[in-house]
Amino acid sequence: MTANTESKGGLDRVLVGEVARVTEAAAIAAARLRGRGDEKAADGAAVDAMRRELGKVHIRGRVVIGEGEMDESPMLYIGEEVGIGDGPEVDIAVDPLEGTTICAKAMPNSLAVLAISERGGLLNAPDMYMDKVAIGPGYPDGILDIDAPPADTLAKLAKAKGVPVSDITACILDRPRHADLIAAVRKAGAGVQLIPDGDIAGVIWTTDPAETGIDIYFGIGGAPEGVLAAAALRCIGGQMQGRLHPLKPEETERAKTMGISDIRRVYAMHEMASSDVIFSATGVTDGSLLDGVHFRNGFAETETVVMRAKSGTVRRIKTTFRMIGTKPKSFG
Ligand code: FBP
Repeated sequence: MTANTESKGGLDRVLVGEVARVTEAAAIAAARLRGRGDEKAADGAAVDAMRRELGKVHIRGRVVIGEGEMDESPMLYIGEEVGIGDGPEVDIAVDPLEGTTICAKAMPNSLAVLAISERGGLLNAPDMYMDKVAIGPGYPDGILDIDAPPADTLAKLAKAKGVPVSDITACILDRPRHADLIAAVRKAGAGVQLIPDGDIAGVIWTTDPAETGIDIYFGIGGAPEGVLAAAALRCIGGQMQGRLHPLKPEETERAKTMGISDIRRVYAMHEMASSDVIFSATGVTDGSLLDGVHFRNGFAETETVVMRAKSGTVRRIKTTFRMIGTKPKSFG
């Protein structure tokens, strides 16, 4: 675990625009392969585009959450140096295509996602599962306890919101491993919105329950996605806890080599994203968080949400790109 304490200086705000460009490029590349039933091709296109655009940014970047180990992945692997090689030293977490299956099936809510922090500001989470619980801003501390029965957490949340538990909805990944969790949430009286994939969006939805209808996120998903979601919450506000969930001893060993000696440790949001951080996501397929990429008459339109922890600013950017062949003119 490399997280350090709150930074005084923070990231250069110019990077806000730069990281938005990077996720825009990845989203456009993946969007060309929506609905083709080929997860690998769509992911590969997003990875390629993201890496190419990162190579134009004035940073000395290091990938801390990426596409796997150097021997598994030729691009955006953990430890890869990215950026022009001048400018600030930063850590980078990427998920070039979050929801590869939903993109391949042209279903809602696939995203291109990236977070950038000061050096040491993001938990170096190995590629394994993480147990997560998250809520949005505006609640008193202490509502979340990853070890508490869901009924207790739901009761606390409902009380803080001033509603009965029956007015609370939890978002959970639709997986057999969550059968008991889903039953417990329903038994407590709350509703469950099941999602097929894409739990970064699932966590972000909790930040605007009036719009999304989601109050809390529960369940086991990817650890890299957990850190990216924590980075987003760090910018918008909210509370989150995560604990690694290894399925085999090799994963525990792998975590150790990445500096995590206590595999049972519960990480709070501020421990997963500890410094100033900028988070950017661009929609690939249309979804309730963001519109996907729309191609028309030689143009591509994207929607991006880009936000920064230090200022708490959340920008939604609609961009129109003039396309030359399959690529936006501005990306060369
Ligand atoms: P991919 O984009 O890598 O396919 O991940 C999608 C996702 O649904 C994540 O949002 C989530 O954290 C993870 O997969 C859950 O893993 P699993 O599909 O193994 O349950």
